[in-house]
Parts: sequence; C-alpha cells; structure tokens
Amino acid sequence: MLGIYSDGEFFGEMAILDEGPRSATARAVEPTNVMQVSYKDFERLLHAAPQIAYAIMKELSARLRETGALLVWQLTRKNRELAEAYLDTVRTIVRAIEERDSYLVGHSARVAALSMAIGRRMELPDSEIRKLELGGLLHDVGMITVSGEILKHPRALTEDEYEQVKRHTNDGKRMIEEVPYLRQAVPHVLHHHERFDGDGYPDRLTGEDIPLASRIIAVADVFDALTCDRPHRTRLETAQAVAAIQESAGTAFDPEVVAAFVALTKDEEFSVLQQ
Ligand SMILES: [Fe+2]
Repeated sequence: MLGIYSDGEFFGEMAILDEGPRSATARAVEPTNVMQVSYKDFERLLHAAPQIAYAIMKELSARLRETGALLVWQLTRKNRELAEAYLDTVRTIVRAIEERDSYLVGHSARVAALSMAIGRRMELPDSEIRKLELGGLLHDVGMITVSGEILKHPRALTEDEYEQVKRHTNDGKRMIEEVPYLRQAVPHVLHHHERFDGDGYPDRLTGEDIPLASRIIAVADVFDALTCDRPHRTRLETAQAVAAIQESAGTAFDPEVVAAFVALTKDEEFSVLQQ
C-alpha cells in the first residue's frame, strides 16, 4: 500500500495487486472513489510520474525483502524442527541397537558429542557439525547385523569373528543410503574405521582421501571405546587414552584431528562432555 500525494496534498493510496490481473488500483480517500487502471495505463502512469514509480519500487522491494526474510526464517525454523525430529528417531533406534549389549549403551551419543566438539575446535561450518552429529550417532548402526554372541565374548575376537564385525561399515552404509535424510552420513558410517596410514577398512583409504568427518569420528570412537569397560578389558583413565590417541597420530589417526582433540581435552568443554 502506497500513499500518493499531489502538490503536497494527500490524494489517496495505491495498492499493487497480485500478478493475476495485470492492473493496479488507485484508491482515493473516499472509499467510493476507486478506479481500476489497466496495466497499459499503469505503465503510462509510472512513466508520467517517475517519483511515484520510484516510491512504488522502493516500497515493493522493501516489502519483498521483509516477506523474503520472514519466509526464510520460517523455513529455517521448520527445517530445524524436522531435523531434530529425525535425530530423535535416530537416537531412539541407535539406543535400541546398543541395548543388545550393555557395554555399548550411550557409545554412539558420546561419539557424536565428542566428534561435534572436535569439529567445532577445527572451526568447521555448522552444516558439517550437524552432519558429524548424525554420522556419530549412526557410525555403528551396521552392528545390528553382527551376532550378539560375538559382541559379548569376554575375550579378544578370533580372526573369523573380526571379519564379521568388519562388515558393519558396509552394512551400515547399505542401511542408511536409501533414506534421503540419512544418506548424508554415508561417508561417516562407511569410513570410520579407515586408518590414516591406509591400513584400515573397508577401502584402505589413505590420509586425506578419507573424508575429514570420518577421520574425526575415528578419533572420537576409539577414545570412547578406550575409556569404557568392554567384555575383554577394563577401561583406561582419560590421560592414558589421550596418550594412546596421540601415539597413533600419523598412523591410525590424522595428526591435525589429533591436535584438535588434544587441545579440546585441556578445555573445560571436555570435562563437561565427560560427565
Ligand atoms: Fe565401528
């Protein structure tokens, strides 16, 4: 809606209608005094009165900016709500899988939280941090295909059992790649057991050929495993586990990720994560 003045006197308001009928309505102060102007006449009007045309365009562009900003804000909020609902579902499913083995309960949520903290320390963008959360939660989802008996053995795995466990990366990838929202976590799930020196699995990727998110989750995963009791061993103290991770920088782990992780362990944020 636009006020129109003639020689300093208020003449009326002008409203630009939608794109359907190409017309504009000039509405005078008196409600009865409404006139429809054809698109052609409207163009002439604009041509004849550049100051009105300028005001109209200025107003329209401000309105559009306001409307656009509001729509973007609403869309962003809805997207966040939807993503949170997806994450809640993923958390529930992952938790159900972990409950097959009491030693694993909470592992994926802790790996997700630690991976996000390392990612933030490495100043990754928010979009990558959100993917790290999803990837951290899902990294071991393929373990559902591994027999519960193997997981509960109070001894180190035999070679055959280890081969079965190793399949969880490909199984996990297959499970999530058909779901559009989860598909973004495929690299995280598939490559979280690759080693920086190329001696990992499933694809024996080396160095920066391993997706960065997978290199981050690898550190978080091993740290959490070392600091938790498992059927065949007791947990390490935090300092021992950090030292073990540091010793494997450049072999199992990306040295840059390890540096970010070690810096994080000296922060208050890390003690909060540990609670
Ligand atoms: Fe794993």
